Amino acid sequence: MDSLKEIFLKDYKQPDYFFDTVDLKFTLSEEKTIVFSKIVVYPRLEGCSAPLVLDGIDLKLISLKVNGDELKVDDFHHDARHLTLSAPPSGKFTLETVTEISPQTNTSLEGLYKSSGNFCTQCEAQGFRKITFFQDRPDIMAKYTCRIEADKSLYPVLLSNGNLIEQGEIEGGKHFAVWEDPFVKPCYLFALVAGKLESRDDTFITRSGRKVLLRIWTPVEDLPKTAHAMYSLKAAMKWDEDVFGLEYDLDLFNIVAVSDFNMGAMENKSLNIFNSEVVLASPETATDADYATILGVIGHEYFHNWTGNRVTCRDWFQLSLKEGLTVFRDQEFSSDMGSRTVKRIADVTGVRTYQFPEDMGPMAHPVRPHSYIKMDNFYTGKCRISPSCIGHDIGAEVVRMYKTLLGAPGFRKGMDLYFKRHDGQAVTCEDFYSAMRDANDADFFNFLLWYSQAGTPCLKVVTAYDAQAKSYSLKFSQVVPPTPGQPVKEPMFIPVAVGLVGPNGKDIPLSSVYHDGKLETITKDGQPVNTTVLRVTKKEEEFVFSDIRECPVPSILRGYSAPIRLDSDLTDADLYFLLANDSDEFNRWEAGQVLARKLMLSLVSDFQKNEKLVLNPQFLLGVKSILCDSSLDKEFVAKAITLPGEGEIMDIMEIADPDAVHAVRTFIRKQLATELRDEFLNTVKNNRSSEQYEFNHTNMARRALKNIALAYLGSLEDEEITELALHEYKTATNMTDQFASLAALDQNPGKTRDEVLADFYDKWQHDFLVVNKWLSLQASSNIPGNIENVRKLLNHPAFDIRNPNKVYSLIGGFCGSRVNLHAKDGSGYKFMGEMVLQLDKLNPQVASSMVTVFSRWKRYDETRQNLAKAQLEMIMAENGLSENVFEIVSKSLA
Ligand code: ARG
Ligand code: ZN
Repeated sequence: MDSLKEIFLKDYKQPDYFFDTVDLKFTLSEEKTIVFSKIVVYPRLEGCSAPLVLDGIDLKLISLKVNGDELKVDDFHHDARHLTLSAPPSGKFTLETVTEISPQTNTSLEGLYKSSGNFCTQCEAQGFRKITFFQDRPDIMAKYTCRIEADKSLYPVLLSNGNLIEQGEIEGGKHFAVWEDPFVKPCYLFALVAGKLESRDDTFITRSGRKVLLRIWTPVEDLPKTAHAMYSLKAAMKWDEDVFGLEYDLDLFNIVAVSDFNMGAMENKSLNIFNSEVVLASPETATDADYATILGVIGHEYFHNWTGNRVTCRDWFQLSLKEGLTVFRDQEFSSDMGSRTVKRIADVTGVRTYQFPEDMGPMAHPVRPHSYIKMDNFYTGKCRISPSCIGHDIGAEVVRMYKTLLGAPGFRKGMDLYFKRHDGQAVTCEDFYSAMRDANDADFFNFLLWYSQAGTPCLKVVTAYDAQAKSYSLKFSQVVPPTPGQPVKEPMFIPVAVGLVGPNGKDIPLSSVYHDGKLETITKDGQPVNTTVLRVTKKEEEFVFSDIRECPVPSILRGYSAPIRLDSDLTDADLYFLLANDSDEFNRWEAGQVLARKLMLSLVSDFQKNEKLVLNPQFLLGVKSILCDSSLDKEFVAKAITLPGEGEIMDIMEIADPDAVHAVRTFIRKQLATELRDEFLNTVKNNRSSEQYEFNHTNMARRALKNIALAYLGSLEDEEITELALHEYKTATNMTDQFASLAALDQNPGKTRDEVLADFYDKWQHDFLVVNKWLSLQASSNIPGNIENVRKLLNHPAFDIRNPNKVYSLIGGFCGSRVNLHAKDGSGYKFMGEMVLQLDKLNPQVASSMVTVFSRWKRYDETRQNLAKAQLEMIMAENGLSENVFEIVSKSLA
């Protein structure tokens, strides 16, 4: 790895040269693609004599001209990564290059490549350098034109950013199109698409009266599946106007769906490119979860038009400036379109499932990393194993904390100032922080630490009621665990939303709190409040509420007001009380989760001691009362009776024990299913779908509840249940119900399972998105020795190792089964080691997302440690390893 280079935030320097205009011309053909580029370059400072260094990877240089003259070999230097002009002319000059590239052989799906016969691009983070020589960094913002020439019958549609300004025929059956983007942009937002596509068209009138043509492009057979995406796009455009006053700024907005894509989607200016998995949906082929994901991702990419495109990042360390903010915006959008509580629960579950584990491993990094080897490795979160989520969960949590501290109107003021100051600029996280602070004259203390300090803060609370003084005290102490390169941490500024619930189950109105030797008033518009946000900033600190006449139960960290681990001294009785009474629905759910975590941990220890497992009857009653409470939102009930995931429990153990955690979770599920059999059966029967599929909260909530009940029942190996699930499978009128019944049947090995899996494939083999669900369901099965089946599926005609979605479904799906991935015979690790090496030759981004399964190997017992380490060392020894995989493996072994 001689070319390997770690890049540091502290080394950031402004570029010596800026680009004014960039005119590109692509001639696309079957053997090779020729890229002509003409750039107007000017120095940042007059009299600059620095060399001009251009990035370029896998490019064949054909011609290089400065101010119209071909450059002599002595005047430039070209190596595997750069093209350097040692002495460019002083002042403004034009730089023309002709480059040959080979999209047909580009399996990395980065730069210009082919997907199902069509040309498309992916440039973020640093893919533009695989297209042409360029200063491939986001602070180089320029105006672009793009001319595309291609065979007309093979590539009837030619798209790029901005407006179509010219098109026509050329001899030899070819045609061309010229696009002009009136907005300056960094090169990572450049896009080109050429192929056989059809569009679903619609219009949106912005609030100032601009008529925008909306077009969603897919292969013709997929067009019927774009209705929901179009609905989502229009809803997003309206929402951004209503909530943030942000209007779309061009007359055309294109979305293209492609089937080979590393991530979820990409916000290229006016030409968003999407993984088809997060665009295409029909009631028969997509689940409610898919519908919700599409709404969120379409919103996300659209919202980037302002948060990312109009205002972009100075450098890649600032990624969270656009991603954290845009994820926050898409979360809010989805909340407003459905249930806020349910959305919050889902997002917090995401943080716990994907972000916290990363914080505990070798790739732990602050929201703004200090260094990277390969930037793609820092697009974190769920997106590492599935395109359906964008990640950057912690960045979004940081943005959410501004809103929690400032309130919605204050947050909006900050956003307005941010755009007023920085429209058209490439800026930093501090610029966002300053806009929020200045617009509100706010005191954010050391809030900026959220950007620079890695690790999940752990906040301990000790509570006390003083009946005599009628006061209630919360004593906080915080610890931020050490992470690679950051052994010692400072205390963080943690906003803790708190309410006190009285014995009658109602919130006690709060009007003042004693803190730091002062009595602080916490009323709002002169009125007491039910929830107040405490500013916890020290290693240890106490807050005391006065005039509390009865002993309350505190509801701490309402709405999950900060991305931390909370460790409170609440008793089980307190938690059951909150589960039944808290006015903050999120904390109601959370009380149940804390109870479940405690229960699971104690059963795990029984299991490890070989003791008989017994389910706490109070827990059973708690689940039963939630399940049977018809006043509750059905999707909330579904979430509330879902146990924390196996990974979540493993993360809070000293030594992660996948077998014990799996055994315990399975045991509790079976116990609940046995004891609440009738209740679950009634839930299924009373919540069947009778109407046409509709994407709305009421119907989705009903299906969610029915299907979780079916999943519980499916854990019982019993004929009546099998019959029921088969009946649900056969009568299902939508994929949500059909797939849920298939999953229920999938839990128990045997003839029925095999038959129904075969039937499902038979039905859906023509639809690759449905087939991916089928692959992933089987791959993630906990049936012992399932690795054999997964290996067999590698050779199934439905699988193709070049397609990321299929890899995420089958190989990523396999990692979903903790017991099989961490099998004590090492078979799971061995399989993943093999797959990583195979994938790395084809697609380093996909390979590195798979290799992360090894990164926390030190969390396991010695046998597993040795097995995993052997795989990491085997990968490390491979010649020609990509930077992507190298970074993760080397940090894991360090
Ligand atoms: N900006 C894209 C989004 O928000 C993510 C693209 C990530 N691409 C990558 N190669 N890491 O959806
Ligand atoms: Zn994004």
